Parts: sequence; C-alpha cells; structure tokens
Amino acid sequence: MEPHPREEGTMEVQGVPTRTIWLEDDGWSVGIIDQLALPGELRTATLRTPIEVAEAIETMRVRGAPLIGAAAAYGMALAARSDPSDGALEAVARRLLATRPTAVNLRWAVDRMWAALRPADPAERAARAYALARGISDDDVAMNRAIGEHGVKLIRELAARNPDRPVRILTHCNAGWLATVDWGTATAPIYLARREGIPLHVWVAETRPRLQGALTAWELAGEGVAHALVADSAAGHLLQRGLVDLLLTGTDRTTAAGDVANKVGTYLKALAARDSGVPFYVAAPSPSIDWEVDDGREGGKDRGLERIPIEERSPDELTFVEGRDPSGARRRVRIHPSGSPAENPAFDVTPARLVTGIINERGIASASPEGLRGLFPERSRSAGKEVGAPGP
Ligand code: MRU
Repeated sequence: MEPHPREEGTMEVQGVPTRTIWLEDDGWSVGIIDQLALPGELRTATLRTPIEVAEAIETMRVRGAPLIGAAAAYGMALAARSDPSDGALEAVARRLLATRPTAVNLRWAVDRMWAALRPADPAERAARAYALARGISDDDVAMNRAIGEHGVKLIRELAARNPDRPVRILTHCNAGWLATVDWGTATAPIYLARREGIPLHVWVAETRPRLQGALTAWELAGEGVAHALVADSAAGHLLQRGLVDLLLTGTDRTTAAGDVANKVGTYLKALAARDSGVPFYVAAPSPSIDWEVDDGREGGKDRGLERIPIEERSPDELTFVEGRDPSGARRRVRIHPSGSPAENPAFDVTPARLVTGIINERGIASASPEGLRGLFPERSRSAGKEVGAPGP
C-alpha cells in the first residue's frame, strides 16, 4: 500500500510521517498499521467495533504497551458511539481488559476512559470519548519525545567517552514507534541521537518466539540507524566481550519499587549486563508505571515480583515459525516435534536491583521507590491523597 499521510506523525515510512493509530477520514472508525504483516508488507486496517479492537490487541495486530493503551481508548470510543449506556460500556471495558494481562497501560487507559465517561450524560459520551482517546494518543507522543530528550543525554555521554567509535546499544523486543503511537520509548533517545549525528550501532535481539526484533530492525532501517540482528542467546557473549555500551529496553509494567516487567528474555540480558558492568536503562512513560504493585516497604529482596500477571501465550508460537518464501508468499511451518509439549510465558520481571535507571518523561531516576517518587512527588504517601491516579 501507499503510506497515507498522518498529519502529526514523526516517524517516516517511505518519507511519509506516520503514526500507528489514527482516526479515519469518516471521523469515527480507527485506522491502524497491521503489525502482523510487517516487516514484509506495510498494511493498514480499519477497526469499526470495540470487539474488532479487542481482537486486534489479542492477535497482536496492534501491540506494545503504550499502543495497546491507545487502541483500548479508541475501543471505548467506538463503544460509546454505538451504545453509550453504562451496561454496554462496562461490558466493553471488561472485554478489553481481558485481552492481554501484562501491560498496565491497558488498564490505565480503560480506567481513564471510564472515569471520564461515567459522570457524563450518555448523549455526550461519544464526543467526550473520542476527544479523550485522541488526547491519550497525543500525550503518548509527547511523553515519548520527552523520554527521548532525557535519554539522549546518556547517549551523548557515551559518545563523548568513546569519540573514535559508534555508541553500541543492545535492545530487546520492539519498544519502538510501532509499540507506541509515535517515537517509541526505548527508541526515542536513539532516534534523537541519530538526528544529532551521533554514530550509533544497535544490536537488535531477535526476541523469540514472536520475533519483535524484526520490527525494531525494520524501524531502524527506516531511520537509517546502523544495526544488526542477533539471536537472543548471543546477548551474553556481546556483553561479555565489551561490545555493548548500553542495554536499553521498554517496559510493559514497572512497579512503584522499580521492578521491570518486559518481554521475556529481558531479565537474562539484565543479569549479563550487570555481570559485564554495562548499564541497563528502561524507558518507562508514566502510564507504564503500576503504583499499585509493591510499595517497596515489604523489605524482601525482590518484593512484589509475583504480583505482576505474566501472559501465557499459545505454545504454537514456539512450535511453528511463520515467514515469507522467496516469492513473497506467507508460509507457516512446524519446527518442533508435534508430540512435545511447550510453554510460552511472554514476559519476565527484572528486579530493580539490576536496573541502572528509569527514563521517564519527567527525567531519569534510580529504579527504586525513592527514585520514582522523586519524579512523582504527588505519589508519596506524605503528599496525602494521591493525585493523577486514573480510573474509577
Ligand atoms: O508482546 P508485545 O510485542 O506487545 O511486547 C512488547 C514489549 O514487551 C515492549 O518491549 C514493551 O511493550 C515496551 S513498549 C514501548
């Protein structure tokens, strides 16, 4: 398809600024980039019902924590347009919340929408819902841009320390613009560094089994960032050989104590980074912070880790691979014995002690209760009633 101009997009696809989600020209249906077709084909799709939105999230046509939140917000808007009654909106909220359990942005967005819609007269709910969904999308873009501004300082420092070679960054999964509305979280500092002309080399972990590394590689190629795909299990080797200056990922849920849930495999990279003395920074916009999990006062070494729901996905994602043959046709082939059981946890939790810092739209903080509350003083217990807490 020809890329379609999305007026506020920043990341370019074939020279056209593009967002991952938008309101279609009819003013009510929702356009997305269908990520199941990437990287082989850039295809868009139009979602017309909240159920289509839920299915798009479940099947990962839209994916990545911030984009899941933005899509869910538009799902609530579609619901408010077709039936703005309390019962109908509550049913849609439940359906959306059941799609994927780990990214807290989903709950954040649905709670925020429902909190705004509930007090409104049903006749006004659709207009309010579309405005708020659009606001959630725009805020995501602004937060990621701010994360980029803070994070690029780290890259500048590394470049100054090593003027004779590129800054070498290892990333995992896709925390790029495809995982958000625009810019990406972990990629925002990279894209800004690239625009400043800082020489970079990004190691892109393949990210079995869903291979989100392919999406990251596609993005980096589009932005002209030097990169190389590596097998997930090559990361330890690269870190140990001194070939990585910075491990930089996104997050699906970071607790108030700084523990980081992200794509499965992040924890192993964090362990290897610590053993090799390489800093590990996590780009976490505020909707990715779960203030309800773990207040850091329980005193255990890795408090609260088990309270983050970890999505278990189909074993078929492990036992089959899908790709394109030389003619461009999609093929799905089995790669493991049909009788062997498989399990597929999709996320893991890296304890805060292995995380060097959190890059948030408000600045960079240590991965600790004190660090995060320093960025969000309104969240301190001593601040009395917490403000900014979304939802009913
Ligand atoms: O299963 P996915 O593809 O939705 O998982 C995405 C990730 O784990 C990303 O790293 C995370 O959402 C951070 S996104 C900016």
